[in-house]
Amino acid sequence: MRKLAGRVALVTGGARGIGKAVVRVFAEEGASVLITDVLEAEGRALQEETGAATRFCGADVTSETDWATAVTVAEREFGPVSVLVNNAGVVEFGSIEETDPAAFRRVLDINLVGPWLGMRAVAPSMRSAGGGVILNVSSTAGLMGYASLGAYVASKWGLRGLTKAAALDLAADDIRVCSIHPGPIRTPMTAGMDDSVTISQPIARFGTPQEVARMALFLAADATYSTGSEFVVDGGATTGSMVLNPPQD
Ligand SMILES: NC(=O)c1ccc[n+]([C@@H]2O[C@H](COP(=O)([O-])OP(=O)(O)OC[C@H]3O[C@@H](n4cnc5c(N)ncnc54)[C@H](O)[C@@H]3O)[C@@H](O)[C@H]2O)c1
Repeated sequence: MRKLAGRVALVTGGARGIGKAVVRVFAEEGASVLITDVLEAEGRALQEETGAATRFCGADVTSETDWATAVTVAEREFGPVSVLVNNAGVVEFGSIEETDPAAFRRVLDINLVGPWLGMRAVAPSMRSAGGGVILNVSSTAGLMGYASLGAYVASKWGLRGLTKAAALDLAADDIRVCSIHPGPIRTPMTAGMDDSVTISQPIARFGTPQEVARMALFLAADATYSTGSEFVVDGGATTGSMVLNPPQD
């Protein structure tokens, strides 16, 4: 039997990159999937490609109204939502002094407030489904710092912490909440980065969106004793430094 048969999933930022891979893998494993994104054309194209298992709903994760609409559409088309993947996110490069306050707030609004609004909007639906799983896509930037990425790092650490608070709040409703921490993954978000960013990793290459999607599948389908925890998909990037060699005699 397929691993997500009978489940209803909502994937934000599902039109491209990691979210698109999650939509495909979840649909292949039998889930009904509501794809949400601000990219209407890409979202509709994915819906056509994946067929009856999916629907698309244009929704901005920063809008409470859009969240209410998305949950209503998911319930109308498929039934109560039992898996939420808070994947939509943006990156903003700039040092602490260079980053414009409006840009800093925008990153927090999309990457942190968005998932929080999503958990609030989806929790009643999950309760009526008899429980569920929420996966918050953080980053290795939610486990360590990066130069010139202050807003992004703050948002992803925030999302990691929010995951733990949500796991505690929602446990009584049989809702598990975990965070996923990808390292460098080849998507439109990282299109401008070359392979050199991965040279000090034990697995010295970019990951694929499918490798993250398979972790999401494991967490949604099989990880029944995990909640509030972090799951890293980073080629070993956060394992330690490979720069120092042992001293020579
Ligand atoms: N690619 C990486 O190396 C990497 C590494 C770690 C974490 N991540 C995280 O993974 C997630 C997916 O990233 P990706 O690499 O696929 O990026 P991407 O830019 O390819 O896709 C992000 C998607 O989110 C959507 N989105 C952005 N703002 C939105 C909003 N306000 N409302 C709804 N949708 C919105 C975009 O339209 C896009 O479809 C993000 O949260 C990102 O921070 C990515």
